[in-house]
Amino acid sequence: MKHSTIEKNSILLLVLTLIVVAIGGIVEILPTFLINTTIEDVDGVRPYSPLELAGRNIYVREGCYTCHSQMIRSLRSEVERYGPYSLAAESKYDRPFQWGSKRTGPDLARVGGKYSNEWHALHMTDPRAVVTESIMPGYAFLATTPLNYQHMDEHLKTLAMLGDPYDEAMITNAVQDVIVQADPDEDYDDMLERYPGAVVGNFDNKPGVSELDALIAYLQMLGTLVDFSATDSTVFTQ
Ligand code: HEC
Repeated sequence: MKHSTIEKNSILLLVLTLIVVAIGGIVEILPTFLINTTIEDVDGVRPYSPLELAGRNIYVREGCYTCHSQMIRSLRSEVERYGPYSLAAESKYDRPFQWGSKRTGPDLARVGGKYSNEWHALHMTDPRAVVTESIMPGYAFLATTPLNYQHMDEHLKTLAMLGDPYDEAMITNAVQDVIVQADPDEDYDDMLERYPGAVVGNFDNKPGVSELDALIAYLQMLGTLVDFSATDSTVFTQ
């Protein structure tokens, strides 16, 4: 029998085993190198505006992901609590992704628009001022720390090199776009054209751009880019 020949020849067995394992490996690993073809395009998904991106960097720096996930699973309980389950495309510009693995606090994948900017500013400064029983730490220093955004053009350029669709205009205007998104009195039309759906506001209600402005701009857009209103909500339950 052919099989006994293989089993009695250890070298042949080893070579054939390696070939079989390699096929399995290629099938699993190759798609991640072709990420652009594996994640389908979804209307509304766009790269982060420079202010949102700066806010996201603060989110990562402060380790918010240690208590908050950003991934609504396709389970009935999750969809009823948090909204439509997360699509892969919604985190395709996340480097690194913020899906998280722990929920000491609630999932934040669709927190955008759930509260006012004022609520966020109060909550981030002193969580217990708005949620009496909250165990979330306060981040009052964010409001008094000016945002370091002078390098945002370089940041966008690097992401463009990695494949994010930031064009020349987005890169040249990056620093200006930070300023206008955090100040409703500025002319922000061009910024909105570049980043549809970006929330403009003086988030912390103080002059200048603080780290809190950036963080709230980021929180307010989370999960808002894709329009789920036309979708039958039963599609999102099991
Ligand atoms: C020690 C765990 C912990 C950390 C770290 C933490 N949070 Fe929270 N967070 C919570 C808990 C618990 C709640 C629920 C109570 C409340 O609303 O304060 C919460 C609530 C929230 C909410 C309201 C969500 C909702 O749907 O009501 C937001 C927004 C939020 N956190 C943002 C952040 C951000 C941004 C950071 C990082 C700067 C952060 N959290 C860090 C525990 C944490």
